[in-house]
Amino acid sequence: MRKNIVAGNWKMNTDLQEGLKLAKEINALVAKGLNDSNTGVVIAPPYTHLATINEHIDREKICLAAQNCAAEAKGAYTGEVSVQMLKAVGVRAVILGHSERRAYYGETSEILLKKVKLVIENGLKPIFCCGEVLAERESNIHFNVVKEQIESVLFTLSAEDYKRVIIAYEPVWAIGTGKTASAEQAQEMHAFIRQLIVGKFGAEAANNTTILYGGSCKASNAKEIFSKPDVDGGLIGGASLVAEEFLGIVNAF
Ligand code: 13P
Repeated sequence: MRKNIVAGNWKMNTDLQEGLKLAKEINALVAKGLNDSNTGVVIAPPYTHLATINEHIDREKICLAAQNCAAEAKGAYTGEVSVQMLKAVGVRAVILGHSERRAYYGETSEILLKKVKLVIENGLKPIFCCGEVLAERESNIHFNVVKEQIESVLFTLSAEDYKRVIIAYEPVWAIGTGKTASAEQAQEMHAFIRQLIVGKFGAEAANNTTILYGGSCKASNAKEIFSKPDVDGGLIGGASLVAEEFLGIVNAF
C-alpha cells in the first residue's frame, strides 16, 4: 500500500533560530504519535538550516528534505548546492519543479530531468511538482499541461528509477492565494495523473505512487481533500510554518 505523506515546504522563511524552534516543536508533536501510522512527515527547511535541524529531529519519524538542488554533481558552479552535500547532512528527499522555481528561475523540463536523475542516483527521493496556472485552467488545457510536465521528465526514467518518485500536484492559482482547489478538482487531476502512470509504468507502479496535493491546504480543509481516493497527502507552504497547524494537517489522516 502506498504511503500517505504530509510535507512542509518552508520556502524562504525563518532564520536558523526560528527554523530550529519550529523543527523542535514539530518533532515534539510528532513524538506524541500520529493518528495514522501510514502517514509520513516531511519537512523542507532552507538549505542553511538542514545540518542543524538534522541533529534535532527523530529521523525515524521525520524525513528531512531540501527545496532544490544543483543540476550538476559537483564542480565550478558558484552558489549551487549538490545532492551529495544535501545527503551528507541527512537530507533524504528533494522538492523539484516547484512552480516558483519554474516561473522565477527558469527551470525547464530539461534542467529538472538532470536534477531528478541526480537525486535518484544518490539514493534520495524527488518530490516532483506539477500544476497549471489559472489561464491554463480557464482555457481548459490543464490536463495537457500537467501531462506534458510529467511525461517530459518522469516518463523518461527507467521503471526502476521511477519507483523512487513522489508527485505533488500544485495548481499554481491555489498556491499562497487562500484559494484551494476543491476536493473534486484535486481528485480529478490526481486520478488523471495516476492513469497516465498506469499507461507508462503499469497498474502496480501507479498504485504505489504517492500523489500529494498542494495549494492553500490547511488543517481546516485537509480532511476533505485527503478523503479523496487518489489524494495521498499534501505539500504545504504557509500552514507548515506553525507547528500545531502543520500537525493538524498531518493528523487529518
Ligand atoms: P501554500 O500552502 O502556502 O499555498 O503553498 C503551497 C506550496 O507551494 C507548497 O509547495
